[in-house]
Amino acid sequence: MTDARPDIDPHPLSPYVAWAGNRNKDPILASFKELFPASGEALELASGAGLHVNYFAPYFPSLNFQPSDYDVEVFDSIKAKRAAAGNTNIADPIRIDLTDPSTFPDPKAKLYDAIFVINIFQVAPVAIAEGIARLGASVLKPDGFIAIYGPFKVDGGYTTPSNADFDKEILAAKVPEWGLKDVRDLEKAAAPFGIRLDRRLDLPANNFILLFKKA
Ligand SMILES: C[S@@+](CC[C@H](N)C(=O)[O-])C[C@H]1O[C@@H](n2cnc3c(N)ncnc32)[C@H](O)[C@@H]1O
Repeated sequence: MTDARPDIDPHPLSPYVAWAGNRNKDPILASFKELFPASGEALELASGAGLHVNYFAPYFPSLNFQPSDYDVEVFDSIKAKRAAAGNTNIADPIRIDLTDPSTFPDPKAKLYDAIFVINIFQVAPVAIAEGIARLGASVLKPDGFIAIYGPFKVDGGYTTPSNADFDKEILAAKVPEWGLKDVRDLEKAAAPFGIRLDRRLDLPANNFILLFKKA
């Protein structure tokens, strides 16, 4: 594995997304070791190729992981990684489109201790936050949480020059929903669902984990 960054490509099966995942998986794991319960249910949104869920699962042998994505083309990759790693605590992926509540899981079937989503906001509209909050309000246990990892703006500004450069690079693609989102806009989108920002954790390379909980 080389450290050279491939060209930015948001496709979940792209070399760029794999490169980013290999860079961020250990820092995220270190935070999740502090946050996740030893046992229970965890739901990953926008799982993509399944790199993270398959990397994390062996560290939480009594936690059941449910991967998901709106793009069913990634499901074979998630399952192939699961088989290669011999992971037994990862369910078959399910289709969840964060813009379509009719695809959200049934709270009568299962409630979750942890919901996590990694690197979606730079290539998706801030409205996705509304979907995540609506879903969380429905399927989170009362003391559960939503952990959102990625680079974000704070109060309209960049926290570092490198985040400004990264944003400039993705905005240059001129795809309307691409670009760094502001933490405040996520909070605003989540508030009507009774989901509030509890904590912001600083991670390497100017990324955050935004920890949302039920109000
Ligand atoms: C940049 S990839 C990140 C994948 C993975 N989380 C990672 O970090 O390697 C963004 C992911 O968001 C998913 N996605 C985009 N829009 C979505 C939506 N409306 N609902 C659910 N997933 C979505 C894509 O299919 C893709 O897997």
